[in-house]
Amino acid sequence: MSDAVTTGTGDMPEIGGQRPIMVEVESGKSYWWCACGRSKSQPFCDGSHKTTAFRPVEFKADKSEQVWFCACKRSGKKPMCDGSHKRLGT
Ligand code: FES
Repeated sequence: MSDAVTTGTGDMPEIGGQRPIMVEVESGKSYWWCACGRSKSQPFCDGSHKTTAFRPVEFKADKSEQVWFCACKRSGKKPMCDGSHKRLGT
């Protein structure tokens, strides 16, 4: 049986990456963060969630700046990184 943490079809999303991804966001723009971990366009949605219970999360930039999106999908401050990737144990 495979590890439930990496299936992305149960309660836990797949790990989309081991480190956060820095993005220059633009004020007023919306970004759709991948919540299932299956997207090939991390940290953003590419439609891969369709066979899972996960849905992308909208991030609306209120200013133009550099932000760090979570890629591991374990952050408590989704869609932003909160350092939880350091506890992945890999
Ligand atoms: S990349 Fe997920 S908490 Fe840092």
